[in-house]
Amino acid sequence: MNQQLTFAPADDGLWEQYSQLATRAYGHPVGDITHLREHADLQVAVRGGRVVAGGLGLLVDQFFGGAPVASACLGDGCVAPEERGEHLAADMVTERLRPLIDRGAVISTVVTSSTGYARRLGWEAPTGVLAWAVATDDLKCSFTTADFEVEHGLTDEAEALQRDLARQWNGPVHRPTWWPRWKHDKSNLTTYRFARPGHLVTGLLSLTTKRHERHGMSLVVHDFWAAGQPTAAAMLAFLGHHNTRARTIEFRRGCCGGR
Ligand SMILES: CC(C)(COP(=O)(O)OP(=O)(O)OC[C@H]1O[C@@H](n2cnc3c(N)ncnc32)[C@H](O)[C@@H]1OP(=O)(O)O)[C@@H](O)C(=O)NCCC(=O)NCCS
Repeated sequence: MNQQLTFAPADDGLWEQYSQLATRAYGHPVGDITHLREHADLQVAVRGGRVVAGGLGLLVDQFFGGAPVASACLGDGCVAPEERGEHLAADMVTERLRPLIDRGAVISTVVTSSTGYARRLGWEAPTGVLAWAVATDDLKCSFTTADFEVEHGLTDEAEALQRDLARQWNGPVHRPTWWPRWKHDKSNLTTYRFARPGHLVTGLLSLTTKRHERHGMSLVVHDFWAAGQPTAAAMLAFLGHHNTRARTIEFRRGCCGGR
């Protein structure tokens, strides 16, 4: 700890070192550090030639009031266990935000399941809830399949629908072109499109399955975009009948907030 601490943007060697540090800090490899190599900014803290902290940052637009707002989106941050408790994570956040603010970010979001820590650093999470689980039988009883066609796969039309619907909410990311492929591969997503016969796509659903430790499984919904109530009802009916082994269906929710 006697040696001086310096902060730096990561080159190839520091990127690799950070990936190794994250594996040690989180207790498992952090895939996004590899997958977002092309798109993210990585800032690290170095002491005595060793990376001891760091984190990724993406400059993306988030929709607010129908307009895209430049946002610094932070994730996958960590501090070496032997360096914790000295406010290094807090200092690292300042260093991670600086280059993104220089590039135009006016708000910031942190993607984390550690909401207590994010609050302490100044972010306000809209809710502590990360996901909702609904009993499959409840969906089965409450929604019947209406006059909708379901097709498998993501298309340009479905991506355009997602963008149009995202614009109507406060907070969703205006997904860059590489985003769907990244999420798809990362979470092993399967995507379905919903449309009335002969009409444009009005619903987009992406989900994955999660096996339980001993037996059984559940469905995890990542994207649920519906242009109206009838489409939403058709999507919920589809989920209710998707897989009889899934007793619950989980609706994921990214935890984010303004700062
Ligand atoms: C979470 C982590 C980055 C914190 O690193 P750190 O350098 O020890 O954190 P800091 O000393 O900068 O903490 C800043 C403040 O947050 C508080 N804090 C730290 N971890 C916290 C937690 N898990 N929950 C609530 N508050 C926390 C600290 O007490 C400190 O508050 P203070 O100003 O009142 O002293 C580190 O423990 C870590 O790398 N964990 C594993 C990876 C991880 O969980 N990353 C989360 C981000 S995705």
